[in-house]
Amino acid sequence: MSEKKYLRIAERMALRAIGTTYPNPPVGAIIVNDGRILSRGWTQPKGVPHAEIHAINQIKNKKDIKGAHLYCTLEPCSHEGKTPPCVDKIIEFKFAKVIISQIDKNPLVNNNSVKKLRSAGINVIVKNFGDKVKELNNIFFNSIKDLKPFVTLKVASTADGKIATNLYESKWITNSTSRMIGHKLRSLNECLLVGTGTIRKDNPILDCRLDGLSGRSPDLFVLDRRLNLEHNLKIFSSKNRKIYIFYSDKMKKKILNSKNIKYIKIKELNNVLDINTVIRKISGLGYMTVLVEGGSKLSASLLNENLIDEIAWFRASKIMGNKGINAISNLDIDSIKNLKKFKLISVKSIDNDQLSIYRKK
Ligand SMILES: NC(=O)c1ccc[n+]([C@@H]2O[C@H](COP(=O)([O-])OP(=O)(O)OC[C@H]3O[C@@H](n4cnc5c(N)ncnc54)[C@H](OP(=O)(O)O)[C@@H]3O)[C@@H](O)[C@H]2O)c1
Repeated sequence: MSEKKYLRIAERMALRAIGTTYPNPPVGAIIVNDGRILSRGWTQPKGVPHAEIHAINQIKNKKDIKGAHLYCTLEPCSHEGKTPPCVDKIIEFKFAKVIISQIDKNPLVNNNSVKKLRSAGINVIVKNFGDKVKELNNIFFNSIKDLKPFVTLKVASTADGKIATNLYESKWITNSTSRMIGHKLRSLNECLLVGTGTIRKDNPILDCRLDGLSGRSPDLFVLDRRLNLEHNLKIFSSKNRKIYIFYSDKMKKKILNSKNIKYIKIKELNNVLDINTVIRKISGLGYMTVLVEGGSKLSASLLNENLIDEIAWFRASKIMGNKGINAISNLDIDSIKNLKKFKLISVKSIDNDQLSIYRKK
């Protein structure tokens, strides 16, 4: 098998881990000896064990590892976290060569493992594993460096961009396949962000209801400045995921954190919660990917501050007219030069709907 194929397999292992590894990045690893793949590993749920250790653990006779090559989509860790440093295990099992895609920009690692491996006599090669791996690693690096998670906005609208009727009816604008893809998007993100308007008007559950993936319902962040949400709403029925409620530091109400519901005080800016602080707080809690599920005011706030990295826009072949609620509320744009610009990445037909993916320009 060519080296190119090993890189692709390691990449596939990393993709397998997306959405499940919070607070660690999704990493893929494979162990190859004498041209034979001995094992494949990927970062396990909740981030441990790391991909390299997951791959090592699957090899029964550890003597087989001696002289093997380890392909890893990110530099192995060199620090003690929830687990001991991976680099020590790589040295202990006498790998001959380690091929990594990138140096880990986490200041706790930052080339330390490469140095340690080399001084233990292990050949280390840094090689381009391709754009997809770079993108995954960059999401992790940005979250560490700038406290900026990767933010995806999901919109389900009519062809004329309406997300609900004037009576707040929104079930269902798009077809069942589009909605299933929406659920898949939930499973691929570490948390959801939603405005209180959507929770109050729709009373959604916001979980992942795909067969076999129900355990992958992301944690939930809600903006509820005035603490208006009643505790009998459906989002509160699940005790298995964390729910964070952002509220205003002007509120005097006494509130109690419960086991899975936490309240976070945020400053206000122009009578809404300061959205930049919201995003930084989410990142500070270790979340690297956020899926925004509306509504129109929250989407506008994020767009106004250029905080959206990607949009997954589902459009039904239906028209609602101007009584409907716009997907994006007021952006206060008067001039064409101030339009929010995105790059169209792909367009797909889903029966009679269309899914367009846009990326920040
Ligand atoms: N089809 C779709 O894709 C889709 C998806 C989601 C929602 N929807 C529809 O959207 C409608 C709700 O949209 P909406 O615009 O009324 O509500 P929203 O965007 O869900 O929530 C807005 C509310 O969140 C609170 N908030 C606090 N800080 C904010 C900030 N920085 N930016 C924005 N909001 C902030 C404010 O209420 P407080 O001041 O009380 O905190 C604000 O009124 C519903 O009808 C729902 O069906 C459709």
